[in-house]
Amino acid sequence: MFKYLMEHRAKLIEEHLLQELKQTPILDQKLYQAMEYSLMSGGKRIRPILLMAAADAVGAHGIKGENFLSVASALEMIHTYSLIHDDLPAMDNSDYRRGKLTSHKVFGEAMAILAGDALLTLAFEVISRQKNVKYPVLLEVAVELSKAAGASGMVGGQSIDLESEGKKIDLATLKKMHLGKTGALFRAAIRSGAILAGANNQKISALTNYAENFGLAFQITDDILDVEGEENYIGKPVGSDKKNLKATYVTLTSLDEAKKLASETIQNALDDLKDFGEEADFLREIVQYLIQRKK
Ligand code: IPE
Ligand code: IPE
Ligand code: MG
Ligand code: MG
Ligand code: MG
Repeated sequence: MFKYLMEHRAKLIEEHLLQELKQTPILDQKLYQAMEYSLMSGGKRIRPILLMAAADAVGAHGIKGENFLSVASALEMIHTYSLIHDDLPAMDNSDYRRGKLTSHKVFGEAMAILAGDALLTLAFEVISRQKNVKYPVLLEVAVELSKAAGASGMVGGQSIDLESEGKKIDLATLKKMHLGKTGALFRAAIRSGAILAGANNQKISALTNYAENFGLAFQITDDILDVEGEENYIGKPVGSDKKNLKATYVTLTSLDEAKKLASETIQNALDDLKDFGEEADFLREIVQYLIQRKK
C-alpha cells in the first residue's frame, strides 16, 4: 500500500504540475523550457505527498489528499525553485541534480535564476486558484507557505548554511539551520494538508511536532547520503558538503553519531503520532523509510 500510494501520488502530482505549466502563458520559450526541465526531472515528490498524507490522516467526511492537488503541486514548485538556486555557482555550485545536469549548466546562470523566480511566483498563483477550499482557509495556508519559503524558513536556513561554510558552529545553530532550510517546507507541507482538511488544533499541533522531526531526520539523512550515498542513486555529486566546507551533522559529529541521531529523531516523529489510528499509518511508514533511503 505504501509503495503504491507513493508512486500513484507522485504520478498525480507530475500530471498536475505539467498541466499548470502548460496553461500558464509563459512569455519566453527558453524560460518555459527551463521551468519544465527542473519541474519534470523526476524528484521524489515527498513534500506534496506528505501534504496529501496529512490531509488523509485528519480528513473527516471523505476529505482526501487528492482534493488538494493544486496546493501540493505549488509546494513542489517552491521546492524545485529552492533546488535550482541551491545548485547555482554562488551557492553550492553543483553540476548534477536528479541525475541530470543542473539548470544553470543547461540554460546558463541568468536563466536558472529566472526559472527559480518564476516557479516561486507561479506557486502562489496556483495556491490562490485552488478550488474546493474556503477563502479564509486558503489564506491561512498561503501565509503558512510564504513564511516557510522565506526568511523565517527555507531562505533563512539557506542563509545560515552559507554563513556557516568553513566555520565550526554549535549543534543548536546546526539544528536551527536544518529546521529552516529543510524543515520549514516539510512543516508547511504537513500543516497545510491538515489545515486544508479541517483538522482541530490538537491534531495540527501533534502533526507539527511530527513534521519538525521529519524535516530534521530528512536533512540528517541527506547529510549522510552526501558521504555514503551512491551517485547513480542520489543523482547529485557525493562529497559535495566536504568540498564546500559545509557544516553538517556528519562533519560536526560523526557518521555514526549522525545515524544514531537520525534514528532517534525518527522515533520521536513516530511518538508524535501516538494519538492517531491507522489513518496515520502512511505517515508512520514514510518517516521510517528515511533511514533506509538510497536517494
Ligand atoms: C533535496 O530534497 C534537498 C534537501 C532538502 C535535502 P529532496 O531529496 O526531496 O529532492 P528531490 O526533489 O527528491 O530531488
Ligand atoms: C539545501 O540542502 C536544501 C534546499 C534546497 C533548501 P542541501 O544543499 O544539502 O541539498 P542538496 O544536498 O544539494 O540536495
Ligand atoms: Mg545547500
Ligand atoms: Mg546543495
Ligand atoms: Mg545535501
